[in-house]
Amino acid sequence: MDIEHVRTRFIKHLGGEPGSVYASPGRINLIGEHTDYNGGFVFPGAVDKGIVAEIRPNGTRTVRCYSIDMKDRIEFGLNEEDKPRTSWAKYIFGVCRELIKRGVDVQGFDTAFAGDVPLGAGMSSSAALESTYAYALNELFGESKIDKFELAKAGQATEHNYVGVNCGIMDQFASLFGKAGSLIRLDCRSLEYKYYPFNPVGYRLVLIDSVVKHELASSAYNKRRQSCETVVAAMQKKHPHVQFLRDATPEMLTEVKGEVTTEDYMRAEYVIDEIQRVLDVCDALEAGDYETVGQKMYETHYGMSKLYEVSCEELDFLNDVAKECGVAGSRVMGGGFGGCTINLVKDELYDAFIAKAKESFRAKFGKNPKVYDVVISDGARRLT
Ligand code: GLA
Repeated sequence: MDIEHVRTRFIKHLGGEPGSVYASPGRINLIGEHTDYNGGFVFPGAVDKGIVAEIRPNGTRTVRCYSIDMKDRIEFGLNEEDKPRTSWAKYIFGVCRELIKRGVDVQGFDTAFAGDVPLGAGMSSSAALESTYAYALNELFGESKIDKFELAKAGQATEHNYVGVNCGIMDQFASLFGKAGSLIRLDCRSLEYKYYPFNPVGYRLVLIDSVVKHELASSAYNKRRQSCETVVAAMQKKHPHVQFLRDATPEMLTEVKGEVTTEDYMRAEYVIDEIQRVLDVCDALEAGDYETVGQKMYETHYGMSKLYEVSCEELDFLNDVAKECGVAGSRVMGGGFGGCTINLVKDELYDAFIAKAKESFRAKFGKNPKVYDVVISDGARRLT
């Protein structure tokens, strides 16, 4: 990310002296999809793409923002009724409000920001935006008194209360806690986490972007979450300790089969299996067994496509190409409905796989997929 680019635009559109520059990344997730809001495990890492923002307190109660990528300038106040209509500005406004609710005396500021996380690609550009401002405003107005978990929760609450997506904690967590070279296993029920240095000798991680934007995803996403909660409610009649699908066993699911819809049943079946798969992948990684890691990724793809139904034709196609090329593991990454596949590829197969994926995707869909090599990087930080 180019700090100079952001600074030049900041001075041009907001005038005056430079402020402080902050950055926060997007994320990948090796495995553990739609498990976070079910109290399960996730296995993300931060990437080398993110949001960079220049921020300078302005001594007023007004926030003046310039989005460099959208070439759009918005101003808003800090009270609940000041919510802006522009969608990108809702994220910044939401973070201000959530930090105020947590006791930070957020005041007006001038800011310009830009990003290089591809939008709608399942790499969490929105969490990167939220985490950048949560981290920065906590430092600039809150003497850094809010810890990083609470900052992640403020970002998540922004999605719930100001954007309308009832997401889990994974994306904001990864954006704030990321560490270069390590993936992080997070238990989303206890919030315990562990860094796993990730250096799969002889393999590479690569993302292939179907360029299908997951814009319509939020209502479908919330619906998936609803299904999980319905199944939990059915299980609770007999097993009151079940708070999340994390607490459920396959046997409990069988017990409620007649009480829930086939659709809700399939959703829960996927989630229960997926939570176990994260643990299996951790064991396989510790044993250096990347072929098993890859196998689990294919199982996740199958579940996301056939049971959770958050894949699409383009992503299923990319998954098939990976299989045909002998790629160790491949699956749709993130919330789904578009975006990228994440692929674990042996070094010697890499070039042939990328060439084949590009060529066959173009032949079938008439558009070029994008390819991103994964560099696992640090989380939110101040740059100047
Ligand atoms: C989105 C949400 C996350 C998580 C993933 C699916 O990225 O923001 O909380 O649920 O989808 O794993």
